[in-house]
Amino acid sequence: MGNHLGEYYANVIDSVGDGVIVLDGDGTVTLMNPTAEEITGISRRQAQGQAFGALFRSEEILTEMVAKTAATGMTISDYENIVLRTGGRITPVSATTSPLLRDDGERIGTILVLRDLTNIRELEGALRKADRLSTVGTLAAGLAHEIKNPLGGIKGAAQLMERELPEESELRDYTRVVLKEVQRVDRIVEELLQLASPRKLQLSPVNLHKIVGDILLLQKRAVSGKKIAFLQQFDPSIPPILGDEALLTQLFLNLVKNAIEAVGEDGQVRVASRVLADYSMTQKGERRARMVAIEVGDDGPGIPKEEMEHLFTPFFTTKPKGTGLGLAICQKIVTEHRGMIKVESEPKRGTTFTVMLPLIQ
Ligand SMILES: Nc1ncnc2c1ncn2[C@@H]1O[C@H](COP(=O)(O)OP(=O)(O)O)[C@@H](O)[C@H]1O
Ligand SMILES: [Mg+2]
Repeated sequence: MGNHLGEYYANVIDSVGDGVIVLDGDGTVTLMNPTAEEITGISRRQAQGQAFGALFRSEEILTEMVAKTAATGMTISDYENIVLRTGGRITPVSATTSPLLRDDGERIGTILVLRDLTNIRELEGALRKADRLSTVGTLAAGLAHEIKNPLGGIKGAAQLMERELPEESELRDYTRVVLKEVQRVDRIVEELLQLASPRKLQLSPVNLHKIVGDILLLQKRAVSGKKIAFLQQFDPSIPPILGDEALLTQLFLNLVKNAIEAVGEDGQVRVASRVLADYSMTQKGERRARMVAIEVGDDGPGIPKEEMEHLFTPFFTTKPKGTGLGLAICQKIVTEHRGMIKVESEPKRGTTFTVMLPLIQ
């Protein structure tokens, strides 16, 4: 009976999600459950019969807690400061030491309970980062709004001045610069607002081919002085997708513009669409959806490997007059449409951005 009970308690201790280490009155390890083995990286066999102080020599806070509980019978907890460096790993833990009491109340040892905080610490880190980002976003949106009004004033005044100046006045060069730079700031502010402000999508069935076709038509005209060939390979079976037409237009315009800027004076810009038959995405609480892929490719200089991971970071640009917000906006729009965007690039050969959107009807 007593044996059964002992086995029962051993099972209970082994099943606890926290690490449990039991020491006798001399500070020798008498028991250690599997979770404690995992957390400390020290096996039960290694630990049993060893002095706790020797096993955890470098974990000063922990050995002090154990010593204090053993000496005074106090229960001590620390949720903040303990980092285990045993077993070749670094593990943040919370620890509680309590006295092990016999029926008659006499102290016969110490119980140490450890909890692995690795996941919690990671979560805290992610939360702090998200928090910081949303603060920056709010700040940027506020700043952008504040800039818009005075900018309008500057623009109006410069336009007036231009009108008043005689045709041959050299001062017109300056008003032109002012107006051009105002337009540039205006664009940055607009893009920043897009990126920072939360918004609701205006969903309707959207014909992707029409959007992309229109963009190519307009851009063709805009670069008619250059030798850029535009290629269009559309899969006619792709039905309209549910999306925000204005945002999807912005998305593909940004990508096509980047492609044009990449090829420079002459080259090729290719847009292709296809249904990804072998690809489907499950969203929480939604049925599986097939995806449509739109590729925007160019035969420009490509992207150096070390730049690949920065492409979608706001303000990353390699262009003298770039804002570095285009791809960040693309990323936001794609995410808002529950899609994905990826990039493949080969230096000297070119770059292809692929936008994948769920085909929900
Ligand atoms: N098609 C492309 N080919 C080569 N590099 C590209 C291409 N598209 C984007 N990039 C790189 O990514 C950077 C960021 O692009 P983007 O966010 O649109 O900002 P911007 O165009 O204002 O520089 C560009 O400066 C460029 O270095
Ligand atoms: Mg761009």
